[in-house]
Amino acid sequence: MRIVPNNTGLGARIFDLDLSRPLEAGEFRTLLRALGEYGVLCFPGQDLDAPQLSAYARRFGDLEVNVANMFHAPGLPEIMILSNKRDAAGKPVGLNDAGQGWHTDMSYSTEIALANVLHAKEVPLRDGRPLGDTQFRNMHAAYEDLPAEVKQRLEGRVAIHDFQKFWDMMRIRPGSIRAPLTPEQRAKKPPVRQPIFRTHPITGRRVLYCNPGYAMEIEGLAKTESDALLDYLFRHQSQAKYLHSHAWTPGDVLMWDNIGTTHNAKADYGPDEPRFILRAQVMASLDYAALAA
Ligand code: SIN
Repeated sequence: MRIVPNNTGLGARIFDLDLSRPLEAGEFRTLLRALGEYGVLCFPGQDLDAPQLSAYARRFGDLEVNVANMFHAPGLPEIMILSNKRDAAGKPVGLNDAGQGWHTDMSYSTEIALANVLHAKEVPLRDGRPLGDTQFRNMHAAYEDLPAEVKQRLEGRVAIHDFQKFWDMMRIRPGSIRAPLTPEQRAKKPPVRQPIFRTHPITGRRVLYCNPGYAMEIEGLAKTESDALLDYLFRHQSQAKYLHSHAWTPGDVLMWDNIGTTHNAKADYGPDEPRFILRAQVMASLDYAALAA
């Protein structure tokens, strides 16, 4: 395979690798290391069906079945469908607003996620330009740049993350097809504690692991102090120097590090500009330090 970094701190394109066939051990290790180093890997020109995407993603860890998984590939609950399309009867075929706000998937869960793997089948276009970019921010760099006194003040502290925060932010937006969480769904996803800084399992470096989508408060601090510090961390990580934007082409497989980045799905396309993407969520269920060594 050929790896071509973007040289912007995040992102690389990977050529000459067919993801529809099983990875060899050396290919797997190279990709794992690249995921840690570049954060966002784009494999252009792939053509995978849902079982092939599932098999590729599963190589990196257990696959999550989302608690509110409303749309998935037939017989494969681990492959979510992200789409604004509707079927002949006018019913949505996918979740139309997934990830439209800065967040880190699964930070609301005690078991966190290593990576997301998305495969674009249809990409909205306007005047020949792709819409619906997925944007990323570099949390290795955001951690490194924090002032020493902030690192010291927050080292060892935890934030409370809540699945309902992001769900409700999406639900109140016009056009949302999300129902309120049922008591059963809510009970499956109670608020959880997450360290504000953690050691990345592939790179061994510290990352800022506190995103505006799910983080509610810093445990053990007065509300005003907690709010002020979260506001500081969210503004710090939003600086343009940490941003990488992926403009989709149909056939792209995009795999991103979900511990060392945050992401946002840009909502700049309309209901008549079709987007159709398959998605798998890889849980951090393996010993990545050993596998990448
Ligand atoms: C997500 O947050 O997993 C969705 C990203 C996207 O649809 O661009």
